Amino acid sequence: MLMRNDHELVSPSPMEGATVNGSLELPIDILIDILSMLEIPDLVRAGCVCSSWHTAYTSLRSSGLYKRQQTPCLLYTSESAGDNVACMYSLAEKRVYKLTLPEPPIRSRYLIGSSDGWLVTADERSELHIVNPITGVSRLPPPSVITIEHVKPIFDDAGIVQEYELSQYYGEYEIGDPYILPLDNLRDKLYDKAFVFSDSSTGSYIVVLIHNPISQLSFARAGDSRWTWLPPSADYEDCIYLDGILYAVTSTSGIDAFDLTGPAFLRKVIMDSMKIGIYERMYIVQSLSGDLLQVWREQDVVQIVGHEDEDVPEHDLSGIETETRKMMVHKVDMAAKKLVQINSLHGHVMFLGYGQSRCIRAEEYPQLKANHVYLTDDERGIAFWKSNHRDIGIFNLGNNTTEEIVPSQCWCTWPAPMWITPNFAKTSSRSYK
Ligand SMILES: *[C@@H]1O[C@H](CO)[C@@H](O)[C@H](O)[C@H]1NC(C)=O
Ligand SMILES: *[C@@H]1O[C@H](CO)[C@@H](O)[C@H](O)[C@H]1NC(C)=O
Repeated sequence: MLMRNDHELVSPSPMEGATVNGSLELPIDILIDILSMLEIPDLVRAGCVCSSWHTAYTSLRSSGLYKRQQTPCLLYTSESAGDNVACMYSLAEKRVYKLTLPEPPIRSRYLIGSSDGWLVTADERSELHIVNPITGVSRLPPPSVITIEHVKPIFDDAGIVQEYELSQYYGEYEIGDPYILPLDNLRDKLYDKAFVFSDSSTGSYIVVLIHNPISQLSFARAGDSRWTWLPPSADYEDCIYLDGILYAVTSTSGIDAFDLTGPAFLRKVIMDSMKIGIYERMYIVQSLSGDLLQVWREQDVVQIVGHEDEDVPEHDLSGIETETRKMMVHKVDMAAKKLVQINSLHGHVMFLGYGQSRCIRAEEYPQLKANHVYLTDDERGIAFWKSNHRDIGIFNLGNNTTEEIVPSQCWCTWPAPMWITPNFAKTSSRSYK
């Protein structure tokens, strides 16, 4: 790919006739060895230096030999960058790359999740797309939103979908009347978070949604024609998929497991709810030793901008600013059905927020800080607070303080920034636009 304007990653093509200064021509196999040590953003940049580097870059990608571990990057949009551009801040190189993405414009989409280098986005008809921002490749889109159990299309006389009806059914009873919503508003109410999990048993993948009413679960395998709802429980905040089992944590610290390999997808309670209050955000992560960790993130309101005026109604939260003040990490003891609080991640680093929760070993990522949690903002109902300050930073579990990653004014607050781990993957993908 060609690197333009210092930071921009655009379509691959070597510079015509360009050579490296002084042209020390390295044999291609040595060049490949060197390039294979670079992380993706840097590798893509190196691929544009001259035609021999480009050849090395292309053969490295096509050979399948490129296995370099990737440091997560912060993905965000910016007003100055343009509607089709995603900015990617590399924690490894401490610089910003710009990626031009295919239509529809990234700034008009909602970003509701990222895993394995894929972004899950919702367009202006509230339909989902899965795109790899590095390659620009899209995966086969998940089933249409109208195949989610709670969503019904409302047609006009010409048979065209005019609006959606979102039922308030949650497995036991209706909690209210259905909402009638314009096509682009359904996504505000419906989506909490999405995940793309690779499915090692089939070599394919599964998309899992946490969606409303009351944060229930639905999933679809690649190529499914409709979403499968997982009733009757609700109130989920985060998921992880391990060996065919989907584990989901609730806002009251319960953990449910669903065996997605069996015919019935029955719910099994791994951990009962323990909390009463729901002030924390909850996450579920696999530690490097294979244990499940449950993480509680407590956010406090720090400032209500411009709301000193007492006439402002109490339910108006538009000026609210939250900040993470406390994080509690627990090991899940599945046998005893207990949570065991741990005080340190020791040599590990955690990534939480929108995007799949991850735990990695600090010594393999020299630019990252051990015993720190890298956070983005995934507050519930975040789509209603599009212009609010985002709680993004690096939380030090040693002294409970947060530091900034990059100056917060560089990103748009909506779509909300999230972590993404770059990946060249394009398996089972299909361009559809
Ligand atoms: C927290 O720890 C970090 C790193 O050890 C240090 O730089 C920072 O000053 C500490 N903050 C406070 C408030 O103690
Ligand atoms: C940080 O917060 C944790 C969890 O609330 C607490 O156990 C620990 O004592 C705090 N550490 C410091 C240095 O304040």
